[in-house]
Amino acid sequence: MEHILGFSSVFLIVLLWIIISKFGTHIHKNEYKYYVGMGLLATVGTVFAVLHQLDMVSVDIPIVYQIAFQGHLTLAFFVIVMFGGAFKNKSKPKITIMKVRREMAILGFITLIPHAVLLITTALNANNPTGVIAITILFPLFLTSFPKIRKKMHAYEWRGFHKWAYFAYLAIFAHLLAINILAQDDALRFVRMSIYIAIFGIYTYMKFKNYILVEKPTKKAPTQKKA
Ligand code: HEM
Repeated sequence: MEHILGFSSVFLIVLLWIIISKFGTHIHKNEYKYYVGMGLLATVGTVFAVLHQLDMVSVDIPIVYQIAFQGHLTLAFFVIVMFGGAFKNKSKPKITIMKVRREMAILGFITLIPHAVLLITTALNANNPTGVIAITILFPLFLTSFPKIRKKMHAYEWRGFHKWAYFAYLAIFAHLLAINILAQDDALRFVRMSIYIAIFGIYTYMKFKNYILVEKPTKKAPTQKKA
């Protein structure tokens, strides 16, 4: 059981995909209700994380730990957000994700808080700042994702600023590798690492392919001077 739960991200990505395929429109229309709901759950999780740190309770409960505290749910949200930018324009998966991409990013960040609070001392004691780097980049992206704040920025300014998301993805990738190299010692860590490398590798390949085939040729060629 413990071994299977180490792969929770994979199951959660599939589950999230099913949820957004069926309820994407509902999530989009009621986004603030989802933020409040997830915010309340994350607040409860964060209180338990603090109490755990103070040795007053234990959150080492199978399934609950992996989903709410070990970062797997957060990763599932961010993988969906990443691939929203990687699928081909007008393809069905792209349309499905783009409808709720902002919501996935905001909900993903909210789920990150209990994880970060619970594990910050473990990470810093292990001299592993990768998670802290990721959350530091993600925080301003999270704030500026709310429509009310986004509207205060020019579209090109907002898009330029959100290119920082690529550095966040890189930091998350480094975090996943660092955790499995430094913190985990079970036999399956190499399988988990291979899955993370496959996910981020496929994402990079798809982005690169889109850039070469779609974005680059449509960029205006510089006007040639007449001889
Ligand atoms: C302040 C920020 C962060 C801190 C302090 C932190 C710390 C940690 C620590 C100490 C672990 C090992 C936990 C264990 O062995 O049970 C871990 C695992 C994990 N973290 Fe983070 N993290 C942070 C941010 C993130 C972010 C931004 C993500 C994004 C998706 C993330 C996703 C994960 C995942 C999926 C695992 C499990 C990896 C595995 O076992 O294969 N973390 N984190």
